[in-house]
Amino acid sequence: MPEHNAADVIRTGADGAHVIDGKVASEQVLAEVAEKAGALIAKGVTPGLAVVLVGENPASQVYVGAKGKAAKACGFHSVQHDLPASASEAEILALVDELNNDPAIHGILVQLPLPDHVNSTKVLEAIDPEKDADGFHPVNVGLLAIGSTERALVPCTPAGSLVLVEKAAAALGAKLDGMNAVIVGRSNIVGKPMVQLLLSKNMTVTVAHSRTRDLAAVVRAADLVVAAGSPRLVRGDWIKPGAIVIDVGINRIPGEGLTASGKPKTRLVGDVDYPAAAKHAAAITPVPGGVGPMTIAMLMSNTLRSAERVAAAK
Ligand code: GUN
Repeated sequence: MPEHNAADVIRTGADGAHVIDGKVASEQVLAEVAEKAGALIAKGVTPGLAVVLVGENPASQVYVGAKGKAAKACGFHSVQHDLPASASEAEILALVDELNNDPAIHGILVQLPLPDHVNSTKVLEAIDPEKDADGFHPVNVGLLAIGSTERALVPCTPAGSLVLVEKAAAALGAKLDGMNAVIVGRSNIVGKPMVQLLLSKNMTVTVAHSRTRDLAAVVRAADLVVAAGSPRLVRGDWIKPGAIVIDVGINRIPGEGLTASGKPKTRLVGDVDYPAAAKHAAAITPVPGGVGPMTIAMLMSNTLRSAERVAAAK
């Protein structure tokens, strides 16, 4: 096993804040995945990940490219299927069926969003739950909801957020058991699975959202804040001194000045007002470089788990 020190994940930022470095944490996860993949390959099973991209959404192309690159770096068999934006729902379903039946493929990911004429729910539900690298299939959602965190394939962003929480708490000497956690956001992809993951660590979990009354007071009571709501919704002075802050938001907002090619500059911000929150938090994730890199690492981890299950059943 590679030797990893949780303290390596925390660095001191220019502002003196304790920054939770998602890049370092993701490299630790990827190193472990690559090592375990090597052991599996030696037994004759090469983990295989198939990513399906429909259309030419530039952001999706970048994400899918990064997923393929990470898979190859882990030693996986990695395939990408590009379908035109005009592909019919039936064509996409036929490809998913082919991948479900391909023994060389252990993880399937259909990149979202899909074109408007395609029913995304139908496509996601067509993926074999055992190969559901995104953890979006109702079988995996249900397994997580009943606390079967070992059997469920868990959505990558909340799974990666939990790894950051665990590493930050270990570095700070903080105990997760009984911790008061507030999740801001109730999406199926982040907020809801995060509830189950934090409950599995014996935290007391509150889910706040856009209709929550006195959101400031709710967040002020939290030892752990997971923000997955809307851009810069969580203000710095809401953070309890000593709290751990995980910012899941990635929002592009107008920046200052123009790029070299004369276009208005943009910048990425999270769902937390970082400069102000960093003054209060014991540790905080930056945007970018926090939760983002963990999502891809956990996708590799899910694919490895599926491949390990296939190898164990042989
Ligand atoms: N689009 C943006 N993020 C994701 C993700 O995590 N999974 C899938 N399938 N599509 C996405």
